[in-house]
Amino acid sequence: MATTINHPLVQHKLTLLRQRETTTGDFRQLCREISLLLAYEVLRDLPLEPVVIDTPMERMDAVQVAGKKLCFVSVLRAGAGILDGMLDLVPAARIGHIGLYRDHETHRPVSYYFKMPDDLANRLCVVVDPMLATGHSAVAAVQMLKDAGAKAVKFVCLIAAPEGLAVFEAAHPDVSVFTAAIDIGLDENAYIRPGLGDAGDRIFGTK
Ligand code: URA
Repeated sequence: MATTINHPLVQHKLTLLRQRETTTGDFRQLCREISLLLAYEVLRDLPLEPVVIDTPMERMDAVQVAGKKLCFVSVLRAGAGILDGMLDLVPAARIGHIGLYRDHETHRPVSYYFKMPDDLANRLCVVVDPMLATGHSAVAAVQMLKDAGAKAVKFVCLIAAPEGLAVFEAAHPDVSVFTAAIDIGLDENAYIRPGLGDAGDRIFGTK
């Protein structure tokens, strides 16, 4: 199931992000701000537990997020661009990395790195990758996580293509997808239209 985050600030910042003339520095900053706002929505159902605290006035029954069992999983390299905003919101989260690159001829993901914190079965894993294009990388990343023991997984991106969403949902119907936009579709090079171009290149200033 895909949820589009329609918050006006997300949509405004996404428009700025998409624009060709947006500088590398601004692009990075916007990614950070949008991903913080996305994280806020994605983590809306985090369980709370009671805690007794003392305010300067008196003792009270309060609540806190139960446990520290959150893991953000960044799909390299572009995932790094939307990790920092999430960490701004949850600085104590554990972080995993999955290295995947897209073979330019087959457009299929090739894995070169996988490093996760322990105890994946007891963590909520939030996979972050800005562009859900063909869906093949996202499917592979989540499959690697599940094979490593993850049971609760969510997927966050900035822009999704309908084709990629269909592929992802068919492979992982149990994984909720959160996105700031669902665009028109893919071009012949499997880039999202109208999209924002190559997210990795725009985040890192490479070409
Ligand atoms: N990856 C990107 O960075 N952009 C796209 O449009 C598709 C995949």
